[in-house]
Amino acid sequence: MRPHPLLERYYPDEPTRVRRVRRWFDATAPAYDRITQAMSLGSGHWFRRRTLARAGLGAGARVLDVACGTGVLAHAAGERAGDTGRVVGLDPSAGMLAVARTRGVARLVQATAEAIPFADGSFDLVTMGYALRHVADLEGTFREFRRILRPGGRVLILEITPPASRAGRALLRFYMGRLVPALARLDGAQASELMAYYWDTIEQCVPPASILAALAAGGFAAPSRRVEVAVFSEYQATAA
Ligand SMILES: C[S@@+](CC[C@H](N)C(=O)[O-])C[C@H]1O[C@@H](n2cnc3c(N)ncnc32)[C@H](O)[C@@H]1O
Repeated sequence: MRPHPLLERYYPDEPTRVRRVRRWFDATAPAYDRITQAMSLGSGHWFRRRTLARAGLGAGARVLDVACGTGVLAHAAGERAGDTGRVVGLDPSAGMLAVARTRGVARLVQATAEAIPFADGSFDLVTMGYALRHVADLEGTFREFRRILRPGGRVLILEITPPASRAGRALLRFYMGRLVPALARLDGAQASELMAYYWDTIEQCVPPASILAALAAGGFAAPSRRVEVAVFSEYQATAA
């Protein structure tokens, strides 16, 4: 199952989608943290750290941060896992990986969530922050997460979900669909287009129930979703 239908306003087919998304992130990487921290009113990095604490990430853990982007989540995971742990960031965008390197994330791999270049059972925790909408197929991606986790390992996925209320949705549409892309124009046309696309994929994304069902189909037990401030979804599940 695709996370959202093909958005023909941006690309005509799947191969072009993949190239387009990578180009947007490559071009926007140097400005990405500034834009998203402004968009989240400064709370984004703090929120990611808090979810890791809630997931119980501790010293010695082996963590793969899929779609690590500029490395915010991977860096925070590294602080918790300590010297006895091992945190790897994975992302297809060379531009995003270059920024993650400057943040101090030492282990980085250029790859996609759909084909992870690690052996079965290599990790205790897989994290993915705000990137589920960019994979080609949810069940296939979750099967890949399951494969590289040890039995009993955990997955933690952060996403933005449109609020249930009509007014809340309209407000978020104005903020993320109009205001943020307009402000991102200061960082260039690609950044502005990426932020407009960001909202469109959120609005077109399959509902949370489908994501939970895909986790179960991918080999995860007890998939759950926690919602904060009406829009921040935190999915967790255990490798069966
Ligand atoms: C919105 S950013 C999120 C970055 C980071 N996880 C965070 O929390 O800020 C989405 C990231 O997903 C990456 N991405 C796009 N397609 C992907 C794929 N198929 N597999 C893994 N990552 C992908 C992009 O290169 C980008 O770095």
